[in-house]
Amino acid sequence: MALVAVTKERRVGETRVAATPETTKKLIAAGFSVVIEAGAGAGASYPDADYAEAGATIAATAEAALGAADVLLKVRAPSDAEIAALKPGCLVVGLLNPHQERAALDAIAARGAAAFAMEFVPRITRAQVMDALSSQANLAGYRAVIEGAQAYGKAMPMMMTAAGTIAPARVFVMGAGVAGLQAIATARRMGAVVTATDVRPAAKEQVESLGAKFVAVEDEEFKAAETSAGYAREMSAEYQAKQAALVAEHIKKQDIVVTTALIPGRPAPRLVSAAHVASMRPGSVLVDLAVEQGGNVEGVRADEVAEIGGVKLVGYANLPGRIAADSSALYARNLLAFAGLLLDKDGAFAPDFADEILAASLVVRDGSIVHTALQS
Ligand code: NAI
Repeated sequence: MALVAVTKERRVGETRVAATPETTKKLIAAGFSVVIEAGAGAGASYPDADYAEAGATIAATAEAALGAADVLLKVRAPSDAEIAALKPGCLVVGLLNPHQERAALDAIAARGAAAFAMEFVPRITRAQVMDALSSQANLAGYRAVIEGAQAYGKAMPMMMTAAGTIAPARVFVMGAGVAGLQAIATARRMGAVVTATDVRPAAKEQVESLGAKFVAVEDEEFKAAETSAGYAREMSAEYQAKQAALVAEHIKKQDIVVTTALIPGRPAPRLVSAAHVASMRPGSVLVDLAVEQGGNVEGVRADEVAEIGGVKLVGYANLPGRIAADSSALYARNLLAFAGLLLDKDGAFAPDFADEILAASLVVRDGSIVHTALQS
């Protein structure tokens, strides 16, 4: 029986965990045995006792959990010490951030283990249940609005009181992918007046269907900005200049701005300049979800709330980690579905590396980095 290990996340501030008691039970029902490092779920409020009750063995250390493991489920890339403890041939599965965290991939390769990056799971119908980018972005979008509302010194909804009327907050969401659409929906539910922008024409209808107003430079380049994979292209300098002018007019009237713009494999586009920030009223708030990819907002700092001219720049790098119980629950289900691909139809551990989803997400195998997007 193949052994699945789940260890504590070692990165500072990473509160999520790659399995919950619920998915542990289901992994065991599917034919795996499961070992959990003691305390692995603590940051997400899943106690060891619940994993044990679900049928897992609790190991005192990561090394003890990893020695015999055939599969290692992680949120982030494993640490050097974890990689050193892997059994050669072990399959590591996680949000490995493969474009930016090459050293971990090299170390996994050197150890003779294999690795799958959940970021590369293709967005095909069969893989929707494994779409960790979406499950985490959705909660990040929700949480961004909560953080924005908290940093904002006024109310979100319009309130009519005997002492007078409070105006609703104006929220502007930049980038209307999975995170942005959830941010729009959340801000609307809280009673804000919401506008949003994106470079993909398909986003316009989605924004409008959530009751927000779409604001964008809709030229010829905009009409061709979506790739066949559904992602944004990097826009030309000319488009970016037009976009910056449009943003300049709009942003100075906003109370809370949530930025989520990303381009796969590239640094995040810079959408909000220092001049834009300076044009905003004191008390306004910017929440930048792209901070780990370099940020959409000039001056934002990872894991800090900076203040420039009375405008707050919220740069929490790991928003899903600030809602860890739910983000872990969804991510663990993504991994549970992925782990199902490692079994054959009789439940035996026999990963079919030719399977479309496994092939697309495999980044390391047999001592080398094998993914075409990572070949330099
Ligand atoms: P993402 O996280 O890569 O980027 C976030 C958003 O930023 C995107 O909407 C992108 O167009 C936008 N953006 C990039 N550059 C920008 C700029 N200069 N200005 C303004 N906005 C900019 O995107 P995400 O959330 O992964 O979604 C990408 C697409 O994939 C969407 O169409 C989404 O609906 C689709 N999708 C499809 C799925 C499926 O078919 N299974 C699952 C999840 C998403």
